[in-house]
Amino acid sequence: MAPALPPNLATVSLLSFLALVSCAASRDILQPGSSLAVEAYQSDILKSPDGTFSCGFYSIYDNAFTFSVWYSRAANKTVVWSANRDRPVHSRRAALTLRKDGNMVLRDYDDTVVWQAADYLRNVQHAQLLDTGNLVVKNTSGSIVWQSFDSPTDTLLPSQRITAETQLVPTTQSHSPGNYIFRFNDISMLSLIYNVPDVSDIYWPNPDISVFDNNRSRYNSTRLGSLGNNGVLSSSDFADGLLLEASDAAVPGTKRRLTLDPDGNFRMYSLDDSDGMWSVSMVAISQPCAIHGICGQNGICHYSPKPTCSCPPGYVMTNPGDWTEGCTATFKFTCSDQEPVQFVKLPHTDFWGSDQKRLRWVSLEACMDICISDCTCKGFQYHEGVGSCYPKPLLFNGMSFATHRGQAIYLKLPARFNVSDTAIPQSNVLDPAPPSLHCDQMSRGVRHPFPDVKQTGDGESNWIYFFSFIVAIFIIEVSFIAFAWFFVFKRELGPSEMWAAEEGYKVMTSHFRRYSYRELTKATREFRVELGRGRSGAVYNGVLEDERPVAVKKLKNMSRGKEEFQAELSIIGRINHMNLARIWGFCSEGSHRLLVCEYVENGSLANILFRDQKTFVLDWKQRFNIALGVAKGLAYLHHECLEWVIHCDVKPENILLDTDFEPKITDFGLAKLLSRAGSNQNMSQVRGTVCYIAPEWVSGVPITAKVDVYSYGVVLLELLSGTRASELAVGSDAEVHSMLGKLVRALADKLEGHEESWVGEFVDQELSGQFNYLQARALIELAVSCLQEDRNKRPTMESVVQTLLSFDEATD
Ligand SMILES: *[C@@H]1O[C@H](CO)[C@@H](O)[C@H](O)[C@H]1NC(C)=O
Ligand SMILES: *[C@@H]1O[C@H](CO)[C@@H](O)[C@H](O)[C@H]1NC(C)=O
Ligand SMILES: *[C@@H]1O[C@H](CO)[C@@H](O)[C@H](O)[C@H]1NC(C)=O
Ligand SMILES: *[C@@H]1O[C@H](CO)[C@@H](O)[C@H](O)[C@H]1NC(C)=O
Ligand SMILES: *[C@@H]1O[C@H](CO)[C@@H](O)[C@H](O)[C@H]1NC(C)=O
Repeated sequence: MAPALPPNLATVSLLSFLALVSCAASRDILQPGSSLAVEAYQSDILKSPDGTFSCGFYSIYDNAFTFSVWYSRAANKTVVWSANRDRPVHSRRAALTLRKDGNMVLRDYDDTVVWQAADYLRNVQHAQLLDTGNLVVKNTSGSIVWQSFDSPTDTLLPSQRITAETQLVPTTQSHSPGNYIFRFNDISMLSLIYNVPDVSDIYWPNPDISVFDNNRSRYNSTRLGSLGNNGVLSSSDFADGLLLEASDAAVPGTKRRLTLDPDGNFRMYSLDDSDGMWSVSMVAISQPCAIHGICGQNGICHYSPKPTCSCPPGYVMTNPGDWTEGCTATFKFTCSDQEPVQFVKLPHTDFWGSDQKRLRWVSLEACMDICISDCTCKGFQYHEGVGSCYPKPLLFNGMSFATHRGQAIYLKLPARFNVSDTAIPQSNVLDPAPPSLHCDQMSRGVRHPFPDVKQTGDGESNWIYFFSFIVAIFIIEVSFIAFAWFFVFKRELGPSEMWAAEEGYKVMTSHFRRYSYRELTKATREFRVELGRGRSGAVYNGVLEDERPVAVKKLKNMSRGKEEFQAELSIIGRINHMNLARIWGFCSEGSHRLLVCEYVENGSLANILFRDQKTFVLDWKQRFNIALGVAKGLAYLHHECLEWVIHCDVKPENILLDTDFEPKITDFGLAKLLSRAGSNQNMSQVRGTVCYIAPEWVSGVPITAKVDVYSYGVVLLELLSGTRASELAVGSDAEVHSMLGKLVRALADKLEGHEESWVGEFVDQELSGQFNYLQARALIELAVSCLQEDRNKRPTMESVVQTLLSFDEATD
């Protein structure tokens, strides 16, 4: 980590030196009796002593101004507070005055008072803009008697507090307050609330799980939160498990802000001092459809695979261009006429909340009757199996789930509508587009965590960029002395360190970072100890400077350029699950492409399962746990992070075991790195190991996550029998599939029958009969369903996990 920092700090201190020089002339204080006039809005501003913030009139339209505080270092003024956000003043005659009697008042062109700091202030000394971005009014004994930090708009700054009295509300594109609120709720939990006339509900913390599972404590009524200078958001209701911190929290001196954005999500942003751009360093909600109201009333949010809003059948978009206004019905039911109705089923869909009733153990017909007899009922949610029935008079927070959850919405429509050919909004995450989506992709207009993704040329453009930036500042601002500095600077840094100076701020998570080839050569002692070798390259043992043991993978046959490689890595680096081996960082220098991965102590499953001399035999509990862990890891890759990474090479070699024999899948995400732009033909050439690959690889149809399910099925058979599938299904490579097919059919037949002894024969003899019959049978059954030729008949990894969990609990 160390090498990235010193040049970085040097840049910062140089810049702050320059800032001091340039800002010495501007003022930070407004004396009683003086004003800031809107006509002079470009010069009549207060600047904080270190130049970070400015305060004055801010133009939102041609003739409309707000009185605001903004980050002056950002490329475009970033407003962090406004006195009159929803009531802008005219471009003539408006002024802000600190009156002699003490109050601070904003008047419009006609002298109407648009805003005032407080009802009554006395013995006022002056108003002042502090380095924190806080605009304060001080009395003659130097105490703060009013401060802008007490009335935030949509942004919380470092050292600012959120209390029982304060809240954040987003600023929409039309500069009006939006429909979301960030504040302490009635039970003292820091919450995000969707607030429109008909509904007001909390969507963060996640309302579907308990306070405890959200890592909140219910009993602290202090109601005090703040954003620390270290990039950590703290709050009196956060339990120990909850840490909301910037991904670059380790970088000192970073300028940040926490903003409730118009899309209802709150994000922490970090400012890159060198070019004034903001990058997202934390986001509250990674799955956009979980934000209530995002598609408005009656609208449905679904992933296709990007988050998308759609209207259900019988409804049309209210205001094209603005989804927050949702959809409007094209029909009208009145309580007096008895128009015949029909119900249209929207599978895997829910409209969260607004339940008229909550009934259980009701038949679908009975639920329909309830909705028909109530003229305000617009539809109902029905959950098969449990027979729960929730009739709804309002349809808000519509969402279509990517995974099967058993519940469906039945929409009440006039019977005269022919809906047979209307599209039903559905999450369809795997087929239509390449499986890639950034978790924070809703944050439009914010730069990618890696700044040079769009640039070409190896580091050269950074040079030019950096050079012209420095030169520009120097010519304008300073003199010779600093020029000398520059030459010192230039001589000290090589190109890669210069890159690091730029890059220091873009550390993505606390650990994920870029390494130099030199560092990795040192860490692996010149690639001395080889841990293994696979299709994608060789893996070496190494120890980082902070003494973390790592596995360094040297990738070969990289068709991807540096930029694409970094872009992919920025996604893979964010994946974090206990059953997936962590990727700590990467190196991309010249033709070198390396990954720095978590070192997993016990090596691969293949090593332990298929070793010739069996010094160690995995017991049944361990095997079952491995089956479950691998399923969880794959389910996470396929669904949860919205990344939809297909592994494409699931096999015992890629399943590592830690000291507790907890499995960790490795090599995920490589499918995309090693092939060009998601083209399926290429993928099938590169990936997969005969025997583990699903039959559809060969036929050239688009690859879906079901290929991993197939491979998982093969791994299950091996885990059960302790034998390579290629040996189970003897035959040449070409025949392996048909042999495996035969084996699967034979197992399927046996599962149908009543005989039981064959299970014992199939299970690894090394276990000497020490296994759980029910679990073993369930695993065989799962393997058979995963190995279906027709991929549509294979279960999803999500449902594999559910099945395994049910057997795990059943026997515990
Ligand atoms: C700054 O504002 C200009 C003009 O409105 C816009 O084109 C540009 O994209 C903005 N830059 C950023 C970083 O938002
Ligand atoms: C200034 O404000 C502080 C705190 O409100 C108060 O204790 C003090 O008396 C005030 N000083 C004057 C001169 O009013
Ligand atoms: C409540 O939160 C505050 C601020 O974080 C903390 O100082 C206090 O100890 C907490 N009280 C309890 C009972 O946990
Ligand atoms: C709660 O904390 C645990 C342990 O730190 C963590 O694994 C889990 O993801 C957290 N849950 C939420 C909802 O943040
Ligand atoms: C509904 O529309 C479809 C296709 O447009 C048509 O085939 C079908 O016959 C129609 N059904 C009724 C009841 O009109």
